[in-house]
Amino acid sequence: MLIVGGGIAAYKSLDLVRRLRERGARVRVVMTAAAQQFVTPLAFVSLTNEKVYDDLFSATDEQEMGHIQLSRDADLIVVAPATAHLLARAAHGLCDDLATTLLLATDKRTLYAPAMNLRMWLAPATQRNVATLKGDGALFVGPNSGEMACGEYGPGRMAEPLEIVAAIEAALQSDTRLSLPGAEQGALAGRHVVVTSGPTHEAIDPVRYIANRSSGKQGRAIAAAAAKAGARVTLVSGPVTLADPPGCDVVRIESAREMLDAVERALPADIFIGAAAVADWRVEAAAQKIKKEQGAAAPVFSLVENPDILARVAHAPNRPRLVVGFAAETSDVIAHAREKLARKGCDLIVANDVSEDSGVFGGDENEAHLVSRFGVESWPRLRKEVVAERLVARLAEILREKEAAK
Ligand code: CTP
Repeated sequence: MLIVGGGIAAYKSLDLVRRLRERGARVRVVMTAAAQQFVTPLAFVSLTNEKVYDDLFSATDEQEMGHIQLSRDADLIVVAPATAHLLARAAHGLCDDLATTLLLATDKRTLYAPAMNLRMWLAPATQRNVATLKGDGALFVGPNSGEMACGEYGPGRMAEPLEIVAAIEAALQSDTRLSLPGAEQGALAGRHVVVTSGPTHEAIDPVRYIANRSSGKQGRAIAAAAAKAGARVTLVSGPVTLADPPGCDVVRIESAREMLDAVERALPADIFIGAAAVADWRVEAAAQKIKKEQGAAAPVFSLVENPDILARVAHAPNRPRLVVGFAAETSDVIAHAREKLARKGCDLIVANDVSEDSGVFGGDENEAHLVSRFGVESWPRLRKEVVAERLVARLAEILREKEAAK
């Protein structure tokens, strides 16, 4: 739950909501009357897809969900911006509006992100209130020092949205019962995960090649997320300009056949994730650079099919328990994914729309559909790192279920 106080920093809370939503969090917003002088409730409604609460005495809100239940429904209460007035009221247990009533009624932790003029922040009364709240177990992030909206310079600027997100993640992780989706620690400890990623380059001659627009970002993010979840990760990557993900064994290859070779050498594994955009065809490469002869016809190439790495792994005698493919499609995404699931013999297909206007190929976001024989699970548009974390968390879950069913 995000309580928005009345300060100019309230505009940053809109970005905070976006950052939390990207990470899969559900955010319910409560605004004070003063907050609505700076940002409209409609802006938060649009970003959260949820009703925004602002009235302690609303008969309809009380009937739908009483304020006591509202205060306990959240995993964490975040107050951003926390103004001097809001801190003072919270420290003294006043409850003269919905925001302060929730702060008094909640049984969850509270994280304050103060924002105010530096003199107001440094005032003994504010410092006493902060000390009281800390003594009661409240968490604080910021304020930062810097130039203020009022033109003065010093402490009082609200922490940046990503700093607040980090403080939220730390608060949730320190509470062992809770975590943001995907943040599960050690879910893949002791497992070996092999990931293919990036494009392949198929040589035409020593200087030319056939390639595609894959950036390798999604595969790299998956490898990083699997390593973070405790797995030993082998990333077999085609030519990309990205840095190696931390904690992974990276094998760099160029062609589809080299990729197959590297994957076969990396097996056995518990999970195989084929995120690479493998070239379907190659040409028989010329040993020397093909020269442009005066007056001669343009060269004609006939294409030879490349091995299907995913299908080979799915049918290998040492098949990993979980084989996951990707389907990059420009139309009928789900139907094509279902067909690929069956044709390639894998357990799960992560399908996405890579048509030109989707911005997925080479971009930072992805809209994924998880297609298995049990059905389709569609995720909203998320950053590729978030898709990776969620996917890893789901795979860990599916693996555990499979093993339990055995
Ligand atoms: N794949 C693979 N080896 C290939 C081709 C594809 O391992 N030679 C894997 C990809 O890494 C991905 C999945 O298969 O996980 C689907 O790739 P895609 O190119 O969408 O499928 P294709 O089989 O090539 O089908 P089409 O191009 O007809 O859509």
